[in-house]
Amino acid sequence: MKGRTGHFITLEGIDGAGKSTHVEWLATRIAALGHAVVTTREPGGTALGEKLRAFLLHEPMTHDTEALLMFAARREHVQEVIRPALARGDWVLCDRFTDATFAYQCGGHGVSVAEVRALEGWVHGDCQPDRTFLFDVPPAVSRDRLHKAQAQGRQPDKFEREAPIFFERVRAVYLARADAEPGRFRVIDSGQPLGMVRQLLENYLAELDAGGDRA
Ligand code: TMP
Repeated sequence: MKGRTGHFITLEGIDGAGKSTHVEWLATRIAALGHAVVTTREPGGTALGEKLRAFLLHEPMTHDTEALLMFAARREHVQEVIRPALARGDWVLCDRFTDATFAYQCGGHGVSVAEVRALEGWVHGDCQPDRTFLFDVPPAVSRDRLHKAQAQGRQPDKFEREAPIFFERVRAVYLARADAEPGRFRVIDSGQPLGMVRQLLENYLAELDAGGDRA
């Protein structure tokens, strides 16, 4: 994207991998580096996107419809929030983006990779994350975390109710994408103690701040 000065960071991982624990903390660390930061999420991030999120997480629909709605929400988000923020020079910290569609809809649900690539090109071909932190844990660990959250009264959404094999497939796609794009991805073993995860994240932010890859 021409004229862009901000950084676009995305957070990814299977449900229960622990990424959401770090979102607000990461935002404070980016601010401490002296940058304005916009924290946002997908599906969601705009008024329409949040309405679509409620459908996506709770209503039954075909897998193709799911992928299409993800990209409809994403188009609003990119145009209304992400591009303007990057153009201002802000850093954008986004909890999930298109890697999640490849992982969940293609890997998990068998939607065509070629169709999703075409949608990606249309919706945000020239607006890609500079850095993606992939929080990685074996599905057995994430499942335990989700069960604990549910025992405290949190209702699982449609995706969180998927079988363990679904999350194995989602994780495999995430790891394959990280292997294919080592410049963009930083894979974090999210089973480590919180302090160690945060130290790694701190290092990765410093690397980006020092002028690491710009798209
Ligand atoms: P969250 O719980 O991390 O906010 O994510 C909501 C759910 O949406 C999560 O189960 C993953 C799913 N999802 C997809 O299936 N495809 C996508 O493209 C995105 C952004 C999220």
